[in-house]
Amino acid sequence: MKVTIVGAGNVGASCAEYIAQKQIASKVVLLDIKEGFAEGKALDLFQTATTLGFNTSIKGVTNDYSATAGSDVVVITSGVPRKPGMTREELIGINAGIVQKVSESILLHSPEAFIVVVSNPMDTMTYLALKATGLPKNRIIGMGGALDSSRFKTYLSLALDKPVNDIQGMVIGGHGDTTMIPLTRLASYNGAPVSQYLDAASLEKVAADTMVGGATLTKLLGTSAWYAPGASVAFLVDSILNDYKRMIPCSVLLEGEYGLKDLCIGVPCIIGANGIESIVDVDLNAEEQALLNASAQKVMAMNEALNDIL
Ligand code: 2OP
Repeated sequence: MKVTIVGAGNVGASCAEYIAQKQIASKVVLLDIKEGFAEGKALDLFQTATTLGFNTSIKGVTNDYSATAGSDVVVITSGVPRKPGMTREELIGINAGIVQKVSESILLHSPEAFIVVVSNPMDTMTYLALKATGLPKNRIIGMGGALDSSRFKTYLSLALDKPVNDIQGMVIGGHGDTTMIPLTRLASYNGAPVSQYLDAASLEKVAADTMVGGATLTKLLGTSAWYAPGASVAFLVDSILNDYKRMIPCSVLLEGEYGLKDLCIGVPCIIGANGIESIVDVDLNAEEQALLNASAQKVMAMNEALNDIL
């Protein structure tokens, strides 16, 4: 299987690293517009193959989409990351044009590919990629919920002082500091509701920390995070290429599901060989549904901004 990653920045390179190390694909192509940048990152990564013991080939190219031809999955990480104090939404002016052009270039060479969108503001960029390519909704997948859910589970693990892989939890809604919705009511510690072990104040802090999890790291690092985003993309790509049919919160076009339509926003999806194979209907209580509706309003307002840019 062949995976192309557009954008050889921190996130893109981490995607390539984890996909190669876990041998999720047999070929990885890393593409960037900066002369030699993707070639350098790809060669450096490929030189870890013998010491880390993987057989995936990794190739870097400078803006040569012919090298991406026939990709099964293409990951769009291109665009600028946010700086400390910025919101993801503030990136739309620069990233929208980039994502539109990249989406069109991808389709020319890989007409059958599934497209995973990472560039921010991710929900709107996912909607843009869908419109720019005209692909069916199952083939345009926004990666945000997998990352936010991994941060949610991490913060729960720290609050509980329990192993993170004994924790189950899901974040839905927009991939934004004020739009994501950590579903604390449904989170569990090996099947036991976490509310049995954490009081309301602790759960509220976990949810609040999750919502700004990206901003917290951007403040510490001076730029957007890359390890967890890259690993979340690899997790998603793994479920597609191996047809695992995992339930992963992803940004997907809604056409009435959860009472919403004509936007891409994070909801639980079954991810397999056909990409978004189905959307899972999780019973939300009135408060959670109200939060999702409010989140959708903010995402749709951001989508409106596309009209002024494109
Ligand atoms: C994050 O939350 C880059 O949006 C990504 O770290």
